[in-house]
Amino acid sequence: MEEQMDYSMAWLSYRKIPWYPDREYFRKIYVQENEAVIHTAAKELSRAAEAMFDESPQIITILKEAPENSSAGIYLYTDKNGPGNGGYHLYEEGGRLTITAEEPSGILYGCFALIRKVQRQQPLKNLDYKEVPDNPLRMLNHWDNMDGSIERGYSGDSFFFKNQELLINERTADYARLVSSIGINGVVINNVNVKENATKLISEDYAEDLKQLAMIFRNYGISLYLSLNFAAPMELGGLDTADPEAAEVRDWWEKQMKQVYASVPDLGGFLVKADSEGRPGPFTYQRTHAQGANMLAKAVKPYGGVIIWRCFVYNCTQDWRDRKTDRARSAYDSFSPLDGQFEDNVILQIKNGPMDFQVREPVSSLFGALQRTRQILEVQIAQEYTGQQRHVCYLIPEFKEILEFHTCCTKERDTVADIISGRAFPQFAGGITAVANTGSDTNWTGHDLAAANWFGFGRLAFSTSLSAGEIAEEWCECTFGPDKEITEAVCRILMMSWPAYEKYTSPLGIGWMVNPHNHYGPNVDGYEYDRWGTYHRADHYGLGVERGSKGTGYAQTYLEANASMYETIEDCPEELLLFFHYVPYTYRLKNGKTLIQHIYDTHFEGVEDVQKMIALWNGIRERIPEDIFMRVSERLEHQLEHAKEWRDQINTYFYRKSFIEDEKGRKIY
Ligand code: GCU
Repeated sequence: MEEQMDYSMAWLSYRKIPWYPDREYFRKIYVQENEAVIHTAAKELSRAAEAMFDESPQIITILKEAPENSSAGIYLYTDKNGPGNGGYHLYEEGGRLTITAEEPSGILYGCFALIRKVQRQQPLKNLDYKEVPDNPLRMLNHWDNMDGSIERGYSGDSFFFKNQELLINERTADYARLVSSIGINGVVINNVNVKENATKLISEDYAEDLKQLAMIFRNYGISLYLSLNFAAPMELGGLDTADPEAAEVRDWWEKQMKQVYASVPDLGGFLVKADSEGRPGPFTYQRTHAQGANMLAKAVKPYGGVIIWRCFVYNCTQDWRDRKTDRARSAYDSFSPLDGQFEDNVILQIKNGPMDFQVREPVSSLFGALQRTRQILEVQIAQEYTGQQRHVCYLIPEFKEILEFHTCCTKERDTVADIISGRAFPQFAGGITAVANTGSDTNWTGHDLAAANWFGFGRLAFSTSLSAGEIAEEWCECTFGPDKEITEAVCRILMMSWPAYEKYTSPLGIGWMVNPHNHYGPNVDGYEYDRWGTYHRADHYGLGVERGSKGTGYAQTYLEANASMYETIEDCPEELLLFFHYVPYTYRLKNGKTLIQHIYDTHFEGVEDVQKMIALWNGIRERIPEDIFMRVSERLEHQLEHAKEWRDQINTYFYRKSFIEDEKGRKIY
């Protein structure tokens, strides 16, 4: 390795650039005004310049925009004609680098974009680059508990909470730097399952801490959000009801919100998981989700807050013998009739698929069905079902497919990306959120390569037209420097990882087949006879869930032409075949292979893919810092063993069910 450096700031771990021709610009930074976020931006630029080429820029305050004939340097100023909504214009002209934006946050994003270009050692002369975020809300949801644990956390403990207290320290500031550098502008710090002390986050007890945290976030253009307990009027307020239509409940929330907003006036708002997996909600009082959400929305409206209401609502006490109830239908059935009934500061948060973050699912049919409601797309970068940050699984290609899915809700601009950004229905803009994959591990994400999902999510949320490959390259070069061999090997590993994971785990969109509770490792029948509505329905002849109109009818919840496409085995995209249909093992796929042979082949291929990833990683050993190399190597070795276990469990199960031999005669138990 070239030099000793500290990698603890992930992609913001700056390395020395000995002969950077464009360092000249970094001698002086002209800052237009003393606005906190612009000040942060200038500070970030000088920090980067110091670390990368030992330059300590002079920060000079100027009055308005750059004066004529001004000297070389970087100019940061807001301009009411500049790009708005967090966008920026970054350009070079006559020895001056300028970043203008309508809003201070745009200046900050522009500075981080400039830093990325420097990290990648790209020339700055004649640069002319504009970026405007596609999504108004670009959020992270942390499922952190106040005892310091993280629900579905795979990289250490929480850095927001410990022993029922908020943690505010250097890592908090580092976190703010990292997430704002990729354009995140909203963070929910606590788990959606709000229990015990977390209910009290909205009480006086935590007001002072929240105020401090919000200030750190604010300087980086990030709004703080909290998850809320719908039953707080009872658990915290001592009322005997949480009925959203009861006057005393409304009054209680109003009073409570007044107090919360007095300490954090710019609190973004609240995320609510109601009537889901045992969490309280309006159903107890025979009220609708709209009544529940609207009551809260009215309480936060005077302060500009929003209520983000999750659509992850389903019956989790199902009987496996019941073939009519379909968990996949649930979000659609519960929320599509409520379209248009929500206050304008309510945003519905919809998981990408109708089930639960499986390696492959169709896009939720709520996208397209809701046309008069603001929506946030929820994805999960915590790899709960995709290898728990012990397997490499770069999820940005999956998110791209989701964003580009045509819902058919309008003639043009009908993709999920169009809907959430507000391009499809302009009054109903929302955004995108990810369940976060960070923790207190030094490298933040446990698996060093999982940082690509964190970085990638932010970059994609900002610019949904970036490709997964471009994002992988950008992450890689910011993290390891612009070394062609590293970039090539690492990007190949990343780009093949999601398809590989899909190959050796559950086939063709059926999902699950994992160990119950921890959701790690193969267990084909783990959830098959359980209450969670997650079945594969395999028998001696075939497998899959019939969701066409002869089955649960879920296919028909899509708009045309999607409903017809999913309705029949012939038209259904093959990667989703078993999600939508019960298919015989002897059914021939488009490539001529039988379903069972496809299952065998992909499971052998998936393992071979992991072997290829290991070879690629070993090929760059000399170029990667030893500790990172070893950490990733260990995980790749584990992934290989675990992929073999998946392969053998799945192949054996279906061989024993079907009695059909592998055409290639490989070892199946
Ligand atoms: C999954 C996950 C839970 C989580 C839930 C949710 O079911 O396993 O831990 O609480 O999703 O999104 O609310």
